[in-house]
Amino acid sequence: MSDTEIGSQSDTVQPEGQQNDVELKVDGLVKRFGGITAVDSASFEVESGSMTGLIGPNGAGKSTTFHCITGIHRPDGGSVRFQGNDITGIRPYQCADYGLVRTFQIAREMANMTVLENLMLPAKQQSGEQLWRSVMPFARRDVIEEERELLERVWDILEFFEIEHIAEEKAGNLSGGQRKLLEMARALMIEPEMLLLDEPFAGVNPTLEHKLLDHIHELREEGYTFLIVEHDMDLIMENCERVIVMHQGSVLAEGNPETITSNEQVIEAYLGGDV
Ligand SMILES: Nc1ncnc2c1ncn2[C@@H]1O[C@H](COP(=O)(O)OP(=O)(O)O)[C@@H](O)[C@H]1O
Ligand SMILES: [Mg+2]
Repeated sequence: MSDTEIGSQSDTVQPEGQQNDVELKVDGLVKRFGGITAVDSASFEVESGSMTGLIGPNGAGKSTTFHCITGIHRPDGGSVRFQGNDITGIRPYQCADYGLVRTFQIAREMANMTVLENLMLPAKQQSGEQLWRSVMPFARRDVIEEERELLERVWDILEFFEIEHIAEEKAGNLSGGQRKLLEMARALMIEPEMLLLDEPFAGVNPTLEHKLLDHIHELREEGYTFLIVEHDMDLIMENCERVIVMHQGSVLAEGNPETITSNEQVIEAYLGGDV
């Protein structure tokens, strides 16, 4: 990013005494659904500022792991630490306060809102601002100021993703790829430090996929940390410096792309699996 700074990385306060640069630490995570153990004592670390890929065959427990980290599911065991803070069993809305955000699909009820409105909403919800306050004629000066800063941020993000031209477009009218950009733009409005992306390229054409990847790399250079679930192994190997492989709820292997691609167990899990 050249002239528009989206991030607020300099605000990050490292807890005292923390020397290492581990952003996220998942330890012995367990999640059961009835008789199914979706996540079976999974442990891994994500380094600050890294782009880490989480891969594994269908049903390996990747999405469930994401849901446990971000509070959609309450884990049955294990712990999650983010920037040194224990966030195990956190509520989804608290997650954003810590600076940890996952992208989520644009809900049906948002389809009738414009791209601009979709971007204004998460920040408003986060600051606890009541929507009616912004439309009251006697709104206080600081509310107006807040609104102005918010709009400025929205336009910075639209500009960054090169989607200013669709600001007034209804979210429901966007192409699959544009919707993915909007999903990521929404997550950025919350001013996170780490983003969890679950199959961000699903249904995206190759041109937009490259664009989206470029944006992710740019944001990474700014200091954001990314954990990306993706079934396209080549894409992960080419773009991530660390890869975590899940299989049957556990972490099968962890390392750089070269180590992972030559790992016998990984090859077996993929060739013998249902990928
Ligand atoms: N809400 C749920 N209720 C019951 N079973 C679930 C639920 N979510 C996931 N599972 C099961 O947990 C396992 C892991 O699923 P998931 O985490 O979605 O895998 P992945 O994202 O790696 O494809 C699968 O067997 C899936 O059927
Ligand atoms: Mg999944």
